[in-house]
Amino acid sequence: MTKEQDRVVIFDTTLRDGEQSPGATMSHAEKLEIAGLLDEMGVDIIEAGFPIASEGDFAAVKAIAEQANNSVICGLARANFKDIDRCWEAVKHAKRPRIHTFIGTSPLHRAIPNLNMDEMAERIHETVSHARNLCDNVQWSPMDATRTEEDYLCRTVEIAIKAGATTINIPDTVGYTAPRESAALIAMLLERVPGADEIIFATHCHNDLGMATANSLAAVEAGARQIECTINGLGERAGNTALEEVVMALKVRNDIMPFQTGIDTTKLMNISRRVAAVSGFAVQFNKAIVGKNAFAHESGIHQDGMLKNAETFEIMRPEDVGLSATNLVMGKHSGRAALRSKLAELGFELGDNQLKDVFVRFKALADQKKEIYDEDLIALMQTGDAVE
Ligand code: KIV
Ligand code: ZN
Repeated sequence: MTKEQDRVVIFDTTLRDGEQSPGATMSHAEKLEIAGLLDEMGVDIIEAGFPIASEGDFAAVKAIAEQANNSVICGLARANFKDIDRCWEAVKHAKRPRIHTFIGTSPLHRAIPNLNMDEMAERIHETVSHARNLCDNVQWSPMDATRTEEDYLCRTVEIAIKAGATTINIPDTVGYTAPRESAALIAMLLERVPGADEIIFATHCHNDLGMATANSLAAVEAGARQIECTINGLGERAGNTALEEVVMALKVRNDIMPFQTGIDTTKLMNISRRVAAVSGFAVQFNKAIVGKNAFAHESGIHQDGMLKNAETFEIMRPEDVGLSATNLVMGKHSGRAALRSKLAELGFELGDNQLKDVFVRFKALADQKKEIYDEDLIALMQTGDAVE
């Protein structure tokens, strides 16, 4: 495998699939801000919106295309000329534009436009060819790929490649697949479809069963080289694959998944907070990588371990995701070592006897309060006779 093949392209769809999440609508200015942060962080491709959906979406995709420095700017289009033309009008302003066109290929989705298999195959050929005549970077997606018959999936992917698609995305639209299947599907396509080795396969997973990250990584191990994801896993229903999870998994477990991304991970925390703020979707406290508690420790055993060697209870350094330090939360589970260290940080150096006394009063307070803040400790020190 060459070095280039080991690079995994990060395709962020926070502004398209993420924004489709009910209630997550962002303003024009907010979309431009998030796109700027994604570009700066090293996201390879930003799916900026669905230009035919509204005048506002069109204007946002066009403005993002105009402002982008490094990222490829992609817009979504259904499988018809009108959508594709509108998409091109918006993305053509980018230094590096991409058109992403899709159609639902599973039996359930084929029934919606009421096309039989041959008619749909013809539609795919026409629309991908049309997109390719406008833009030399074209992505095609068989929506609901994971519930599409294998033979038909192979047939449609082959048609899209022949018509000029440069990336084929395999969406798990309803979050139905499991890691082993996700890997097998990519491996099967790479083996069976003529021309498959000349394009990039992408994986696009939804999190309905909580398997989006695992499914995306399994697909990469089987040969996919583009992961589609969103910040904080924002997206319809249970969301999409979380960008911060796949990127940090590839970084931390590079020993078993030797793939590189171009993401500056020290920017993850800031962009997570900005997306939470502008979408109105708070990040759950125990969310991997970017949750408030992801680098927080309260229990005495953990705090003591952390003070001696951070690797005892942390597999990533907080600085690697843009946090200044591990958070030793003071509460009823905290032990003496953490209290001594916290008080020293606040300027109180205590001898053993003093610590014993303060610790008793600290535990009494902690039994009454969920979390003990620095101000509580200062007050404890100032009111107690343990202060020297
Ligand atoms: O989940 C999905 O199938 C999609 C497609 C439009 C790619 O978001
Ligand atoms: Zn999706």
